Amino acid sequence: MNRPSSASIDACKRMLAAALGPSKLIDDPDLFSPYGQDWSFSTPSMPDLVVRAEGVADVQAVFRAATAHGVPVTPRGLGTGKSGGSVPVQGGIVLSMERMTRMKDVSKTDMIAVAEPGIITETFMRNVEAEGLFYPPDPNSLKICSLGGNVACNAGGPRALKYGVTKNYVLAVEVVIPTGEVLRFGKGTLKHVTGYDLTALMVGSEGTLGVITEITTRLIPNPAAVTTALVSFPDLGRAGSAITAIFAAGVIPRTLEFLDDYALGALREKTPGRFPENAGALLILETDGTSVERSMEDLERAALVCTEHGAIDVLVAQDAAQREKMWEPRRMLSVTLSETAPRKISEDIVVPRSRIPAMLDGAKRIGEKHKLGLATYGHAGDGNLHVNILFDEDAQERADQAVHEIMSLTVSLGGTISGEHGVGLTKREFLSLEHSEPLIALQKNVKKVFDPAGILNPGKIFPSRGVRE
Ligand code: LAC
Ligand code: ZN
Repeated sequence: MNRPSSASIDACKRMLAAALGPSKLIDDPDLFSPYGQDWSFSTPSMPDLVVRAEGVADVQAVFRAATAHGVPVTPRGLGTGKSGGSVPVQGGIVLSMERMTRMKDVSKTDMIAVAEPGIITETFMRNVEAEGLFYPPDPNSLKICSLGGNVACNAGGPRALKYGVTKNYVLAVEVVIPTGEVLRFGKGTLKHVTGYDLTALMVGSEGTLGVITEITTRLIPNPAAVTTALVSFPDLGRAGSAITAIFAAGVIPRTLEFLDDYALGALREKTPGRFPENAGALLILETDGTSVERSMEDLERAALVCTEHGAIDVLVAQDAAQREKMWEPRRMLSVTLSETAPRKISEDIVVPRSRIPAMLDGAKRIGEKHKLGLATYGHAGDGNLHVNILFDEDAQERADQAVHEIMSLTVSLGGTISGEHGVGLTKREFLSLEHSEPLIALQKNVKKVFDPAGILNPGKIFPSRGVRE
């Protein structure tokens, strides 16, 4: 991929220094490293310049300079993405939103919140909860990721099962498009059908259509009671069949997370004593409701179904501290697993719930066939499985082959190659397994309307070869 010439970078830098002043620019290559990678473990690629925007005018200035000198712009939230979406693969400017962190409004009456994109998701949630309201999307990185990144990638999380993903909460966004216009998509009202739904188009567009500078979300009342339990199973198969049976029994848990034996082993080692020793698979079952009795009633119904399907133990948290002790290792699981092998590839597939057993079984067989470590965990309640391949450096080729087979199996089971992390860089070559050629061409044309000069986040989402525009 072509990086911009040093002459265009220098000219761009001069223009931005004049427009923004020095405090918003980083041009010392020694300081680039955090801006050249994310949490996808894809190969880092350094920017030529970093701009830390403090407002809409700064974003416009970046696009003006970038357009004038043909320099790519890669937007970035807090860099916790898992598919390389914020890696500046062609160099140029990284446009960081880390300084745009204002909580602008929480309205109890209208049940909406307005914030800037760089706010940490958990901070946003706490502000909302202080008003007795609830913003459910809870990516496991919520303590360190940004709301803007969540919107750009349409993040999910454990609670998506009952409450939906980020797109189900975003009502409106303010966006600067590469041609420099500041546009408002959507409304801070619960219903809105004037014109195309460009808010929906922006959510999950992975920073390829515009830069989001303000987000308006809807909120719901915070459920008063939450109950959490760890449910142990002797093996994967029985846990898999319990998952579908819980829904058939009429319970929609708040979360229904799943961990296989490899993932459990890693957690036992990291946090000894917190996870049952005899389990071969584990569910984190959580219910909520307007009262403790209602929440507990749902939990008991679901737990009974689990027992009927072979669960060997149900451990119910007695208070908030115990709940946190159950969740904290799960939230860190992606990091914990990466410590178990020199290399890790983390997938984010989704299959229809009925196909979970086939997917689990197939992934395991692919791992065995290629002699690779394989851990599967994730949001099994909604069919969203994180299949992780763990391997040594010399097994890279086999691991790549295994990823390809896992992707193909997913699509053949009626699933999708990404449920919540996005396509970004790491999955772009697999997009054609799932999207037809005309569908990819249509989306590339949509991008061209927003970004005619092709300066915004190049090299992402769409396959590098083989698709006509
Ligand atoms: C998780 C992240 C990897 O669920 O999506 O832990
Ligand atoms: Zn996840």
